[in-house]
Amino acid sequence: MFIKYIVVGALALTLLSSCSDDNSSNTTPSNTSPSPKVDQSLPSVEVTKNAIQVGKDYHSFANPESIKVTHLSLDLTVDFTKKVLVGTAQLDFERVDVNAQQLILDTRDLTIDGVTAKGKEINFDLASADSFLGAALTIDIPADVNSVLISYQTSPKASGVQWLTPEQTAGKKHPFLFTQAQAIHARSFIPLQDSPQVRMTYEATIRTPIELLAVMSASNEPDTPRDGVYQFSMPQPIPAYLIALAVGDLHFKPMGERTGVYSEKGILDAAAAEFADTESMLIATEKTFGPYSWERYDLLILPPSFPFGGMENPRLSFITPTVIAGDKSLVALIAHELAHSWSGNTVTNATWRDLWLNEGFTTYLTYRIMQMIYGDERFEMEAVLGRQDLQADIDSLPANDQIMAIDLRGRDPDDVFSNIPYEKGALFLRELEHKVGRENFDQFLLGYFEKFAFKSITTDQFVSYLDQTLLKDHSANLSKQRIEQWIFQPGIPDGAPVPKSDAFSVVDQARDDWLAGKIQANKIDSEKWVVHQWLYFLNNMPEKLSQEQLADLDKTFALTNSKNNEIAHSWLLISVNNWYQPAFNRLHDYLTSIGRNKLVKPLYKALSQTPDGKVMAQKAFAEAKPGYHPLTVKANEGFVQ
Ligand code: BES
Ligand code: ZN
Repeated sequence: MFIKYIVVGALALTLLSSCSDDNSSNTTPSNTSPSPKVDQSLPSVEVTKNAIQVGKDYHSFANPESIKVTHLSLDLTVDFTKKVLVGTAQLDFERVDVNAQQLILDTRDLTIDGVTAKGKEINFDLASADSFLGAALTIDIPADVNSVLISYQTSPKASGVQWLTPEQTAGKKHPFLFTQAQAIHARSFIPLQDSPQVRMTYEATIRTPIELLAVMSASNEPDTPRDGVYQFSMPQPIPAYLIALAVGDLHFKPMGERTGVYSEKGILDAAAAEFADTESMLIATEKTFGPYSWERYDLLILPPSFPFGGMENPRLSFITPTVIAGDKSLVALIAHELAHSWSGNTVTNATWRDLWLNEGFTTYLTYRIMQMIYGDERFEMEAVLGRQDLQADIDSLPANDQIMAIDLRGRDPDDVFSNIPYEKGALFLRELEHKVGRENFDQFLLGYFEKFAFKSITTDQFVSYLDQTLLKDHSANLSKQRIEQWIFQPGIPDGAPVPKSDAFSVVDQARDDWLAGKIQANKIDSEKWVVHQWLYFLNNMPEKLSQEQLADLDKTFALTNSKNNEIAHSWLLISVNNWYQPAFNRLHDYLTSIGRNKLVKPLYKALSQTPDGKVMAQKAFAEAKPGYHPLTVKANEGFVQ
């Protein structure tokens, strides 16, 4: 064992040293099952049982260590009748290994019609598909060739594309299409090296029905004539998971000099009003964390089936309409997707194990942006709610899934979504901030974003950077051991920062008095409560409430009819757990009109706990399924079987 450790450890060291900040990749040829190696930088307890190869992307078959794609040129026709994208992808590449003879790409459910180089057919092999990684496409590359043209089409069931019928849109007249590539779904609509450590520039020609507009995570021209042919270019190198396309009856409204919103006409004004602070957020973030690298920052508001709250597609974040609450109460989502322009899109996680580098930094920045724009009270409330979400996961997830640098070998990233990379990551960064002081920490972040701009980095690269910078300058307050505990161990280290909110103390008092029967709900002084206080009020109710208590709350606060989708979610969850039937019509409506997984999954899960609940879940799911995104279907179908 010891000898084996030394040998493999030496190999890991070699890999690590080649893994500098130059965006070099460390994958081994990987069209076979990945071979495990030792991660030298893990604490010793981990080393013996752990064999993760640092920097290896276990979720891609691609071979960027031999040949690296640098530019993509797409020409796709959007066929709403057949629900397919059909056309060509030209991939330009560089040889990292001068003798490389094969280019290996990721695909999922693609039909490959042919591959040419310099106008001549060349050989390719499409392997049989892995259950969640898709199928490797291996192309034989002649020595004098550095570009290939692949003719292909997608499948109607492509995991990264949702095709909506006109009835499933707000306007009801035109179909709609959108893609969602993170984590490993770009391969279901483009054959490419679908690994976040491969960055490429791209251009695209998208051909649509003449009355529709196409937008992409690239330069968009709001005034472009609607002629059914749209051109895009993304001049900064980005990873595949940030390539995005949407097509629909879209309109544009500017919000500021560099910000605007695209959506269907019916919600355009409401969206522009809700997100009117986007430009100020952009300016404030730039001021603190360095220049915005992407020229414009626009939002695309999707139909309610969008499976996430938001997706940080560069220059054009994709946003759920479920956060248009009328009072800007849920706009932390916009701060979050905007913050990804720095953490995620400029500095990118090298593998999905390193997701916390994207999401933890972004969650930390989100809190900071919210504080800058809306003040301390809002910031404190959001921090407490975030800490509670984190605690719920710490209390329910197995130890290994509480580790920020999580071992995802053999696992589908879609199945491992939790608050750990987000809120634990953010809490860790807040601790660093507290230990070194905000000014110093901001300086550190500024330097980090600059140093690793347009690079994809591993957790281990971050740790060594931290070691050389903050840790060196503040050795009295920071220790490597503590940092490794945060990143490589489960749980929350003792002494972690504890977010507090005075605005929540009054809510605690009111809840306690009401639960103790001291007051009726109508005596709660809630007139001035904001959405966060309501969420805190509801989320901290005991598990069991009586029908009388529920009726008292509902009668007084009209919770079943709440227009705020987060409040409605919390209330419906309580209603399911306590079988409060007056809320069940709303529950059915909710489940059949919203596809955002974070909002529907806990409800399906709660319903599935009882036989009667399961029947309700089955009914809602059957009705909603045609309009759900493939990811929402996959995440919830287990609850209705
Ligand atoms: N990039 C994520 C969404 C994502 C993560 C998709 C991992 C696939 C795999 C996005 O920025 C995000 O975090 N969205 C959250 C926002 C929330 C934390 C404010 C969401 O959708 O709920
Ligand atoms: Zn995010």
